[in-house]
Amino acid sequence: MESRKIYENINYNLEKQYDNEDTNIWRNKFHIEMPFGLINDPNGLSFYNGEYHIFYQWNPFGCEHKTKHWGLVKTKDFVNFTKPEIILKPEEWFDKNGCYSGGAYVKNDILKLFYTGNVKDINNERESYQCMVDYKKDGSFEKKGVLINKQPKGYTAHFRDPMIFVENETYYMVIGAQTEELKGKALVYRSKDINNWQLAGELKTDMNNFGYMWECPNVFRVSEEKVAFMFSPQGLNEEEFRYQNIYQSGYVIGDLNLDEVSLTNHTEFKEIDMGFDFYAPQVFNHDGKNIMIGWIGMPDKDNEYVSSNYGWMFGLTMPRILEYRDNVLYQKPLELLKNLRESKTVDIKNQTLNNYSISLDSRNVECDLDLDLSNNENVQLKLKFKDEDISISYNKKDKICIIDRNNMKLGGKGIRKFKLKVNSSLKLHMFIDNSVIEIYYQDGLETNTLMYFPQNNNFEIEIKNNIKINKLEIWKLRRINYEK
Ligand code: FRU
Repeated sequence: MESRKIYENINYNLEKQYDNEDTNIWRNKFHIEMPFGLINDPNGLSFYNGEYHIFYQWNPFGCEHKTKHWGLVKTKDFVNFTKPEIILKPEEWFDKNGCYSGGAYVKNDILKLFYTGNVKDINNERESYQCMVDYKKDGSFEKKGVLINKQPKGYTAHFRDPMIFVENETYYMVIGAQTEELKGKALVYRSKDINNWQLAGELKTDMNNFGYMWECPNVFRVSEEKVAFMFSPQGLNEEEFRYQNIYQSGYVIGDLNLDEVSLTNHTEFKEIDMGFDFYAPQVFNHDGKNIMIGWIGMPDKDNEYVSSNYGWMFGLTMPRILEYRDNVLYQKPLELLKNLRESKTVDIKNQTLNNYSISLDSRNVECDLDLDLSNNENVQLKLKFKDEDISISYNKKDKICIIDRNNMKLGGKGIRKFKLKVNSSLKLHMFIDNSVIEIYYQDGLETNTLMYFPQNNNFEIEIKNNIKINKLEIWKLRRINYEK
């Protein structure tokens, strides 16, 4: 009750939202971000009552990882959104230190939200409660309280991020967990009625020694036979071509057996995004498609995100469809995102150009590029911001792609180096916003999501050497709109 009182008297200042006068050059135009405070994981993703519902972790009081609420924006078209509103506040005994991440499921016309109540006791010891909320079409909601009271024996209180899936008319909840031996795992619970839950067991996989904590697990079917298990493991060692962020997000695909609680014959863990700023993705199914949204950011790297000087931090990726082909998930932008195109500004086909460069008058563009590699061993592309740049280079022989942020003055730096299979042409589909870049390589076989904080608005794209451009199309993208 104590904590409830605190939140009654707080001024959330929501009327100050999305002030068009905000001239900060890093304010993104078509990525979801908060007018103030810190946004992290997407939560409760669903299509409900004719609209996409995008909930997310939000600290509306500042740019620190604390007082996590659930915020919400709704949209039909990914161009027009409702204004961010606060749904869950950390105000009950079972969630007083944060309404942490979780998923959603529509049952009997009610959007059931699942989340972890994070509690710190007087000795700062953590307690975790899996909780449920009934959210209705008129926007009203009711916290139903605790479904699962703390973790089972043998696990630590790092027990969070419930996601629901249904198989054979049974509800399943998968939860990120840590064993007392400090190994990352996922636990599966089972329910016939969505209210009463029993532990089915730890999900058995071949990943027995794979980091110390698995956050944000997702289980989803990718074909009649195969199931993907996507999660965000912490504690993997960096390698030359992978695991270069502090924490990872990725997936395996295999055969799910829920009687045995096992995923067998699974593929090797594959990172879903090769960096720099992508974490805690969530997947939901709508119209037969698996759609993923990730958090643009990274835990424990707060000083890299200099927009916090202006009172806001991080964002969400645009929605990506996951397509299962050749044992991997290809990512592609949701069709609806074409609604963001305002005008086509460049359209080049089949031209061989030497050190091509183009100046653009805005950093709000979609750029679809296809470069012929038959006569080139190396490709180098630069996104230039006056005397700063981000470079992307590809070496055909070694099949290595490197994205380099070392020439930026502010924010995170470093390189990400990854293997990329390319046949005859290098394809890059880029969405460039004022401080976010999302790149899809080779029809979404690999992606890079990153933030960048240029010091001025000059913007030029440069393609080095003599190279045949099969295609270069650039569209100016519009600003998404938030209305009540
Ligand atoms: C992942 C995460 C989750 C947790 C949430 C708290 O970024 O740490 O495990 O529920 O963020 O905001």
